[in-house]
Amino acid sequence: MQLGVCYYPEHWPRAQWAEDARRMFAMGIRLVRIAEFAWSVIEPEPGEFHWDWLDEAVETLHAAGLGIVLCTPTATPPKWLVDRMPDMLAVDPQGRPRGFGSRRHYCFSHAGYRSESQRISRAVAERYGQHPAVVAWQTDNEYGCHDTVLSLSESARRGFRHWLAARYTTIDALNDAWGTVFWSQVYRSFDEIDLPALTVTEAHPAHRLDWRRFASDEVVAFNREQVAILRALSPGRPVSHNFMGFFTEFDHHAVAADLDIATWDSYPLGFTQMFFLTAEEKARWARTGHPDIPAFHHDLYRGMCRGADGQGDGRWWVMEQQPGPVNWAHWNPAPHDGMVRLWTWQAFAHGAEVVSYFRWRQAPFAQEQMHTGLLRPDSSEDQGALEAAQVGAELQALAAVGVLDPQSLTALPMRPAVAMVFDYDALWMAQIQPQGADYHPLELKFRAYEGLRRLGLDVDIVPPGAELSGYRLVVLAAQPHVSPALRRALAQAVAAGAQVVLGPRTGSKSAHLAFPADEAGGPWAVLPPGPLAALAGVRVERVASLPPGCAEGIEVGGVTVTVRRWREDLALVGADTLASFNDGRPALTRNGPVRYVAGWLDADGWQAVFTGAAADAGLTAQPLPDGLRISRAGGLTLAFNFSDLARDWTPTPMATPVLGGAHLTPRSLAVWRD
Ligand code: GAL
Repeated sequence: MQLGVCYYPEHWPRAQWAEDARRMFAMGIRLVRIAEFAWSVIEPEPGEFHWDWLDEAVETLHAAGLGIVLCTPTATPPKWLVDRMPDMLAVDPQGRPRGFGSRRHYCFSHAGYRSESQRISRAVAERYGQHPAVVAWQTDNEYGCHDTVLSLSESARRGFRHWLAARYTTIDALNDAWGTVFWSQVYRSFDEIDLPALTVTEAHPAHRLDWRRFASDEVVAFNREQVAILRALSPGRPVSHNFMGFFTEFDHHAVAADLDIATWDSYPLGFTQMFFLTAEEKARWARTGHPDIPAFHHDLYRGMCRGADGQGDGRWWVMEQQPGPVNWAHWNPAPHDGMVRLWTWQAFAHGAEVVSYFRWRQAPFAQEQMHTGLLRPDSSEDQGALEAAQVGAELQALAAVGVLDPQSLTALPMRPAVAMVFDYDALWMAQIQPQGADYHPLELKFRAYEGLRRLGLDVDIVPPGAELSGYRLVVLAAQPHVSPALRRALAQAVAAGAQVVLGPRTGSKSAHLAFPADEAGGPWAVLPPGPLAALAGVRVERVASLPPGCAEGIEVGGVTVTVRRWREDLALVGADTLASFNDGRPALTRNGPVRYVAGWLDADGWQAVFTGAAADAGLTAQPLPDGLRISRAGGLTLAFNFSDLARDWTPTPMATPVLGGAHLTPRSLAVWRD
């Protein structure tokens, strides 16, 4: 468990670097990420490399005892490169090339840019790959940030056609799979197929889904090319990439399959303002962030780099941690004192190896001059620096008394009893045909997660190919397509005694975003939940999205909760009704260990459903005090108070406090040894 920081030596006078490095070390920081946007200073003219400054920066940080996370600088291709091949620019959804002057302006499908990205990656890796200070790599920076996965470029069009030809072999197979007979869309060859954009009305959903899959594969391939270079020239150093929050434009599991460490960039206040929370939630959590936003992503990214068999503990870091106000949200409030410390500990409580702050010193110029750092622009310490130093000291103190592994501060292992399946492809399906303006599948997953966390349950967020039989409770909150492999994994989990909760629209689509076909070979489609009909004991006969205001209360386990946005009419084929709509139709059913939820639930609703399911699974699930969250990891229980009020909470009578205690003041935390 280590602290890190993102540093831009190229922004500061050389004479100050040694003092910066000394202060970092004194603050408890041991890792420094550098150079992800430094291409134009590394190679100011084509083929003319200026290494002297980077050599000196690397040596200076090394001499201060800091390890370096070095980056490939491909997120910011320099002006001379764009001018040499203007068609490397990504093309936006309106068909306009994106301009130079910010970042991420490249198109993933451009062959020329792909070879430039390999050339510059090779140059950096050749120079520093064996340097003892370089302890890890980061490829590029935040793939997809600023809506840059999908590009309407000519290169993407050509690439898409090849991708389709490789996938379908014959054009008839594609016509069949997509159902192009609808609206006379039949193609005679792959060369006739365009990107599904700028159409008069909605483009064909199967066409759009395959485009998203293709674009995701392009990100995977782009990253893989860099990883191969780094592995060859810098053997033994782990390779990472920094993913984002609430971002689903490419399949992160597929990118992570080529990485050693999944990292992500955690901006709890920015995300609270920018995503789907209600106005009331945005106000309530403005200065702490919604408690489950960091945790949701920690658990998601812990599920990424799960080792060769895909089943191990995932290595993961927070590569960028918000240190104070950011500059990019609609509103940029300041965290309450204590939050930087709390967020840092919260990441460690979910198994992070490293928490690295963005950034060391606030830049006094350019786009991000209003984004805070650990230091202010005058180089004085801001609140974030004080709190980072506090965590550094706390880690040392807990290691000194043996609560944390004194040799290596090994990250805390987690063994949650609950698994939530997270499938990017499935999210794309519901995003492409939401059928209701506010049907956001990612929010549905998040609300289900929130329901689990309010009950104090630890959660693994796992890829759709994960083994599920070790879990007591398995949740599929938003999974329209259920592959044969996922169906098998679920059946095995049920056979091993797990409880299963299925959300609305589960099993409602085929792999081509159509109704599932009849596996018995009959001429007609089958109704949802398709391949899970026998397991769930229900058939979905009709679905409806509900306009704002059309909410309905249902009673789940004695608690009245609200169904809004979506509801389904179920026929029972074996299941019992646990909760009903006002018209008497089932809203929640149970078929042995399998529950089916026939509508959109908020966190309250999910919490009520999971209260019953957790009891049936033999799990202890008690509602936590409002705003309190807990996490169990490595023989410790950690409690975090996000609320404005003090909370009193103890894990068990036997547990001993090793940091803080039973009385948690607002924004404080406690660590208990079991
Ligand atoms: C991240 C990005 C950083 C910086 C930061 C500001 O998305 O990786 O380069 O822009 O946001 O919060």
